Order: sequence, then C-alpha cells, then structure tokens
Amino acid sequence: MKVLVTGSAGFIGFHLVNKLVEKGDEVVGLDNINDYYEVSLKYGRLADAGITKDEIQTSRFVQSKRFRSYRFVKEDLTNKEFLLELFKSEQFDAVVNLAAQAGVRYSLEKPDEYISSNVQGFLNILESCRHHPVKHLVYASSSSIYGTNTKIPFSTEDVVDHPISLYAASKKSNELMAHTYSHLFNIPTTGLRFFTVYGPWGRPDMALFLFTRKILNGNPIQVYNNGEMKRDFTYIDDIVEGIVKVLDKPESVNNDSECDRLEALKTKAPYKLYNIGNSSPVLLTDFIDALEESIGQKAERQLMPLQPGDVLSTWADVTDLIKDINYQPKTELRVGISNFVKWYRDFYKV
Ligand SMILES: NC(=O)c1ccc[n+]([C@@H]2O[C@H](COP(=O)([O-])OP(=O)(O)OC[C@H]3O[C@@H](n4cnc5c(N)ncnc54)[C@H](O)[C@@H]3O)[C@@H](O)[C@H]2O)c1
Repeated sequence: MKVLVTGSAGFIGFHLVNKLVEKGDEVVGLDNINDYYEVSLKYGRLADAGITKDEIQTSRFVQSKRFRSYRFVKEDLTNKEFLLELFKSEQFDAVVNLAAQAGVRYSLEKPDEYISSNVQGFLNILESCRHHPVKHLVYASSSSIYGTNTKIPFSTEDVVDHPISLYAASKKSNELMAHTYSHLFNIPTTGLRFFTVYGPWGRPDMALFLFTRKILNGNPIQVYNNGEMKRDFTYIDDIVEGIVKVLDKPESVNNDSECDRLEALKTKAPYKLYNIGNSSPVLLTDFIDALEESIGQKAERQLMPLQPGDVLSTWADVTDLIKDINYQPKTELRVGISNFVKWYRDFYKV
C-alpha cells in the first residue's frame, strides 16, 4: 500500500512510519514541525529515519536514507492546495491522519491552533480524500472526548456530547466530520480514540517525559489532584500494532443488524470508531512509584489540585477492537516505563 502519514515527525507518527515501511508499505510522511514542543526532538526522530534537517530545508520531498520506501515533506495541513496536489500526484491507497495540535491544557492558552490544525486541517484531508479517493482514512481521536463521563470503562457507545476542553471538542468534531464525508462520499473512515500513549521518543508535554526530566534534574514534580487520577497508559508498540491492523481493515457499509447493535453508531456509512487503550487504568501515584524504581531515584512530589479541562479517570473498553482485529495490548507498565527511561538516558546523554 501507498500510505500518507501526517504528523510523521511526531511521537506516534514516527513509530507508525517505522512499522509501515518495515512491513513493506510505501510511505509519504508530512509534518509542519511546529514548535509546540522542542523541534530538536522532531528533527531527532526524522534523523533516526535517515532524514536530516539540512535536507528538509533545501528539498521539497526528502528521501529517507534508512528506508527506501519513505519520503518526507514539511508542510502544513492548512495548505489545502498543496494537499489536493499531493493526493492527485501520489494516488494514496490509505491515509493516517495523526497531525494535530495535541494537549488538553494548551487548548486553554492557544485555542486558535486547535481550530486551524484540527478542524480546518482535517477538513482539508477529508476534501482531498473526496476528490482523490482512498481505500481507507484512519484518523486520531482521543480519550479526552469522554469528558466527565463517570460510566467506566468508556465505550464508543457512550454519549460524548459534553467535552470539557477545546482539544476534546476538536476531536469530537473530527468524528462528526468524518461521518459526514463517509456518508456523503462513501469514504471508509475509522477514528481511533487513543488512551494516554507512552514510550520511547514520547512527547515532552506528557507526564512520563515531564516527570523523568524533572527527577533526573533533581527538580520537584507536580502531581495533579494529589495523584488521585487514573490513566489507561498504553504503550506505543501496542498502539502502532492496532493502527496497522485497523488500517488493513477498512470499514464497509454497516448492515442493518450492526446498526441495531451499535446504538450510538446508527449509520449505514462506512464509518467506524474504536477505543484503543490498554484497558487497565493505573493510579498516577503507582505510575510515579514505577518510574522512581526504573530511574533509581525518588521524586519530590508537589501535590496540586486538578487542572481545568483534565478528567479524573480514563479506561478504554476495547471489546470491539478485540472482536474486529484481535487487539491484544501486551506491554507491562514497568517494561514500558523502563524502555522509555533507557531511551531518554541515551537520547539526552544523561
Ligand atoms: N499521545 C497521546 O497520548 C495521544 C492521546 C490521544 C490522542 N492523540 C492524538 O494522536 C495524534 C498524534 O499524537 P502525538 O502524541 O504523536 O503528538 P505529536 O505532537 O508528537 O505529533 C503530532 C505532529 O503533528 C504535527 N502537526 C501539528 N499540526 C500540524 C499541521 N497543521 N500541519 C502539519 N503537521 C502538524 C506536529 O508538528 C507534530 O509533529 C494527535 O492527533 C493527537 O491529538 C495522542
């Protein structure tokens, strides 16, 4: 397959590209390399794939020196003309849209970024798929759309009409927009609601990265809601395996019995939504204990209140994903954390 992966200099995109090229797909990666977090890490990921910063600055498309079937282009999702031209010339079989402005707390500071990248940018992807049809569009949604849902585990059949951050609202919008395009133009789309992804090459704005950096620098860590929060931490390899399997299984038009079963998904459009998570929530304090053990150093914990926009607990019901693609996340939390700490020490020479 020839696949477009947007956000390919990002955490999940980087790992996904590696997996796709290793399994023999041809990949075009796209990313605007914005400075939401340190760009050196994004260039580091690209360098690992055999693509240098110099080449990105001088050539439009950069051929990876590590993978013959990977090319990279630095571009913004909001450039609709470019996307339409790209889709026309490349004739992709499938698209995985991971490029987005991520982060719950940042959406209170810079709301416009979320509308431009996540809503306008995603519309441009949908329009490109409309005019240059692909066999499957898979896109990133998020567990944060469950908002203050108290029914656990979270199911894709739960009503999620009350987001508590603009980030969550933008991801819910993506699901609504995808459904519209699946219905109107028969584009097979699958939304994946990711649950707190962690692992090597992870994101510096997320807990594992922040805590590791602070502990190693001897600084205190901020523990929100006094550590009384639960997250369904999901290891990157388990996420990537899920994306690859889902990508190979485009949704067909839902039949009548499926429509009846899926109360929240009463639609005949080739449209599907899945939770993708470990389905085993961990208390933040236990997570920090495991991290301290892996680093071999105790953290100074500053207990803080819950932050606006944050949810208390996340827990993925992955029954549908098990049924449809035999999804079996297998990475133990301690193993995943230790892999991250090893990578961090190596990359930052700590
Ligand atoms: N990591 C998680 O735990 C998690 C959880 C839920 C959802 N998600 C979603 O998964 C996707 C990937 O997340 P990630 O953790 O890899 O984040 P990331 O920030 O590391 O990767 C996203 C990439 O998209 C790029 N990007 C942003 N706006 C762009 C634009 N307008 N045009 C082109 N590129 C743009 C960024 O430069 C970045 O490299 C995102 O959509 C995110 O919202 C992630």
